[in-house]
Amino acid sequence: MSDATRIDDLPVRDELRGKSPYGAPQLDVPVRLNTNENPYPLPEPLVERIAERVREAARNLNRYPDRDAVQLRTELAKYLTRTGHYPLGIENVWAANGSNEVIQQLLQTFGGPGRSAIGFEPSYSMHSLIARGTGTDWISGPRNEDFTIDLMAAERAIAEHRPDVVFITTPNNPTGNAVPPATVLALYEAAQAAKPSMVIVDEAYIEFSHGDSLLPLLEGRPNLVVSRTMSKAFGAAGLRLGYLAAHPAVVDAVQLVRLPYHLSAITQATALAALEHTDTLLKYVEQLKAERDRLVSELRAIGYDVIESDANFVQFGRFADSHAAWQKILDRGVLVRDNDVPGWLRVSAGTPDENDAFLDAVRDLKKELDA
Ligand SMILES: Cc1ncc(COP(=O)(O)O)c(C=O)c1O
Repeated sequence: MSDATRIDDLPVRDELRGKSPYGAPQLDVPVRLNTNENPYPLPEPLVERIAERVREAARNLNRYPDRDAVQLRTELAKYLTRTGHYPLGIENVWAANGSNEVIQQLLQTFGGPGRSAIGFEPSYSMHSLIARGTGTDWISGPRNEDFTIDLMAAERAIAEHRPDVVFITTPNNPTGNAVPPATVLALYEAAQAAKPSMVIVDEAYIEFSHGDSLLPLLEGRPNLVVSRTMSKAFGAAGLRLGYLAAHPAVVDAVQLVRLPYHLSAITQATALAALEHTDTLLKYVEQLKAERDRLVSELRAIGYDVIESDANFVQFGRFADSHAAWQKILDRGVLVRDNDVPGWLRVSAGTPDENDAFLDAVRDLKKELDA
């Protein structure tokens, strides 16, 4: 093979030709507020507990892990029952390596070649990328100018395209706004009337919301799935643990596509340790919510437009050239995210010091832009 061989010289699938992989720039700058991570490292007692549990798990690494992750799913179900105000058992919960893998398994099960999925954009771009990776056609659904879902247009799009899967991200990434439960219910009804299809509610950021989880909507709706993650509220993005809650039949269905032993014994042990420390971790969430609210009010005071946020990040603008503004903020030592939403940028809530550095940078930028 010659050194000049590139992806497109290989017999890759047609839909992958000319495409680039997903990924935010990982730049070495003093303040990184670009990937919606939790800025707080895990507390030391939890680090110790992880070490203990992983040591125990290491003694059995000659064996495959529990394929059904029984203990972990039981604890996740307890967490959801306690915080989501809706009773769930192990039969309702499934876990995988990040909610990205949960979504991939759902699309492998309910999407695929000859099938389609719709999302209301701008939204989490991995939904469309995982659709592409699983051979599922992608339909880009509409939003209003203020980034709320245009319900009538969305219902029309569902009726017209009859997608097999409908994605609703609440709170939405990158815009930060939550979707009202009534909108989710109306879209669910529209999706059932059109096909029926699966509706996936992506609640990756729900712990940061002013409102409650939509878990109670699962009652009597077997085609509804709520997907969640430990990457954000639990401050464990490096762990790679996502999970879903749904009717037991959905949990049975994803078994048809999951790889055997997909969730390593180390991952299961670490996640179980983190769940033992839920209450401490949720206290950090409260701090982050307060910092998020501070970012919203200070950005408005500086003179920026801000979308109301229920997440651990804030979308702000408007910029004549958002990429140039991104670069100018970067030049001041702060990395935010340019999600290709024209006129807007996104900043993740960091520690109070990181947020101060960001606010100084954008205050400075505003003066420069207004000059
Ligand atoms: C809306 C949304 N869903 C899912 C994910 C993926 O999270 P995980 O780390 O669990 O794969 C993200 C990550 O940024 C996200 O923004």
